[in-house]
This record gives sequence, C-alpha cells and structure tokens, in this order.
Amino acid sequence: MDKPTFTIRRAESSDAEAMQKIFSGPKAIRGTLQLPYPSIDRWRKRLAEPPEGSFNLLVCVDDEAVGQLGLFTLPQNPRRRHVGQIGMAIRDDWQGKGAGSALMSAAMDMADNWLNLSRLELEVYTDNEPAIRLYKKFGFVTEGTLYRFAYRDGQFVDVFAMARLRENSG
Ligand SMILES: CC(C)(COP(=O)(O)OP(=O)(O)OC[C@H]1O[C@@H](n2cnc3c(N)ncnc32)[C@H](O)[C@@H]1OP(=O)(O)O)[C@@H](O)C(=O)NCCC(=O)NCCS
Repeated sequence: MDKPTFTIRRAESSDAEAMQKIFSGPKAIRGTLQLPYPSIDRWRKRLAEPPEGSFNLLVCVDDEAVGQLGLFTLPQNPRRRHVGQIGMAIRDDWQGKGAGSALMSAAMDMADNWLNLSRLELEVYTDNEPAIRLYKKFGFVTEGTLYRFAYRDGQFVDVFAMARLRENSG
C-alpha cells in the first residue's frame, strides 16, 4: 500500500462526529483520560467553546479526520506562558501508520515557530510503548513517574511525566 498523505487542520465544531469516532476506539480510550461511550453532543460543545489558548489540531486522510492533538497554553498564568501541554489520540484503525508523527510535527512547528513555547509537557501511561517512542522521537525526556495517576479498566495506573525543553530559549 502507498504511504498515505496526511494533512493537518484546526478542528471545528462540525468535527464532533469524527472526534466521537476517534475516542470510541478501545485503544484510544485506554491511552488517554477519556471515558467509554463518548457523546457527539458533548464533543460539539467542547469544540464550539475551546478554552482560551488551546489549539485543537486534526490529522486527515482524504479529508477524513483520523486523529487529534490538543496543544494547551496557559495565557492566564504569566509565569507559565512558555509552557504548552499536549494530549493526543489516533483512531484505532489508523495507529502505527505515521499519523501521530505527522500531528506531532505540526504541533512542534506551532510551538517552536509560532507560539515561542520553550517547555512542552505531557503525561503518558508507563506501559504505553508506542506513545513513549513517539514522544522520545520528538525530543521529549522522562522527568519522573506519577504513581496511581488514573483509574483505567479496573485498576490504578502510573504515568511518566515527560517534557521537551527547547534549546537556547533561556
Ligand atoms: C500513541 C499514538 C498517538 C501514536 O501515534 P501513531 O500514529 O500510532 O504513531 P506513528 O505511526 O506516527 O509512529 C510513531 C512512533 O511510535 C512508535 N510506534 C508506533 N506504533 C508502535 C507499536 N505498535 N509498538 C511500538 N512502537 C510503536 C514508533 O517508534 C514510531 O516511530 P517510527 O515508526 O518512526 O519509528 C497512537 O498510537 C494512539 O493514539 N494511541 C492511543 C491513544 C494514546 O495512547 N494516546 C497518547 C496519550 S499520551
């Protein structure tokens, strides 16, 4: 199969169905803090009223959204204006095909070249090998472990706190 062509764009409230589909997958739920049975209505509201300073990017194949990345900045906190927080998920049937890397490239460009963020941070379950590999590929390092961070499928699970500090940015 030819390598798919990925395009990146901002999410709109009309993307609620695609978001619901992305977060209906067992792997997408397992890797994030989302709950099973996501609601299209709830996503429509979330997409229509994004928090100030948040950038919700979609990765698309032939105009169909197959993954999402949220980049959250902290404009209300003057001393953390250099920070961005990241969460993402690729639809289960599109994982492992490069969509996550395409989204991360776009988010890193946004953070470095447009928002001037010098610290990006995220949490990832300690057993989520594909995600940890993806983040390391983009320069994230593990800063520590947060124990019993979330409840997942009947048990508490730990996360790694990971961050990417941009060189020469003070
Ligand atoms: C984690 C996730 C975002 C990665 O996106 P993806 O599109 O699957 O990743 P890519 O295909 O771009 O691959 C990125 C890297 O991950 C690693 N990777 C991908 N699939 C893997 C797998 N099954 N096992 C181990 N490593 C894997 C590879 O190192 C790969 O880089 P390389 O191929 O250049 O070496 C995606 O799998 C996902 O959404 N998972 C469920 C939700 C989730 O875990 N979100 C992250 C929350 S912190």
